[in-house]
Amino acid sequence: MLKDLGVKPFIFPMPVLMIATYDKSGKVDVMNMAWGGICDEDKVALNITETHKTALNIKERMAFTLSVADIPHIKEADYFGIASGNDTPDKFERSELTAIKSERVDAPVIKEFPITLECKVIELQHPEGGFRVLGKIVNVLADEKVLDGDTVDPKKLNAFVFDQFGGNYYAIGEKVGKAWDAGAELLKD
Ligand SMILES: Cc1cc2nc3c(=O)[nH]c(=O)nc-3n(C[C@H](O)[C@H](O)[C@H](O)COP(=O)(O)O)c2cc1C
Repeated sequence: MLKDLGVKPFIFPMPVLMIATYDKSGKVDVMNMAWGGICDEDKVALNITETHKTALNIKERMAFTLSVADIPHIKEADYFGIASGNDTPDKFERSELTAIKSERVDAPVIKEFPITLECKVIELQHPEGGFRVLGKIVNVLADEKVLDGDTVDPKKLNAFVFDQFGGNYYAIGEKVGKAWDAGAELLKD
């Protein structure tokens, strides 16, 4: 039997993405974002509360990097979603992670995260009751450790996902099939 749960943002899994920015003075900030992701071949959409330090920084610099967090850095990743650069001036320093300047966009790259998308802002949108940033991916940086040839091996990533139902983090499980293939049998006459 199906039960009504009402209006809730109940999709699973949600990503655990780290948005890294510089403020006006060059100070690094990083925030945890679940409500965003890929929206085109070379574009990402971020849904951010407009008063977050990250939103202010993005408007200032019109650039950001977006990283996939990994389990070895779950403590820092979660912390980036609890503390705000608005009232914790040393937010990033407390994490003891390492920021280097992106060579392509006006934003920091956090060295410890395994994959980072370097992005330029192409549009700031104000959908009903919200704030959305549309970014263009200008490059992807990946730690050699997570590569299998020219691409990324998801198992080596050690990524984890956000559970919007219960507010937990889950490790990613085993490969269970091949995309564009698992359903191909049903195409046959
Ligand atoms: C798991 C998780 C997911 C989050 N997802 C979002 C999100 O999608 N959008 C958002 O605006 N805030 C999100 N937050 C809250 C921000 O990360 C948090 O308010 C943070 O302190 C903002 O930092 P800043 O003010 O330094 O930018 C999330 C927090 C957690 C823990």
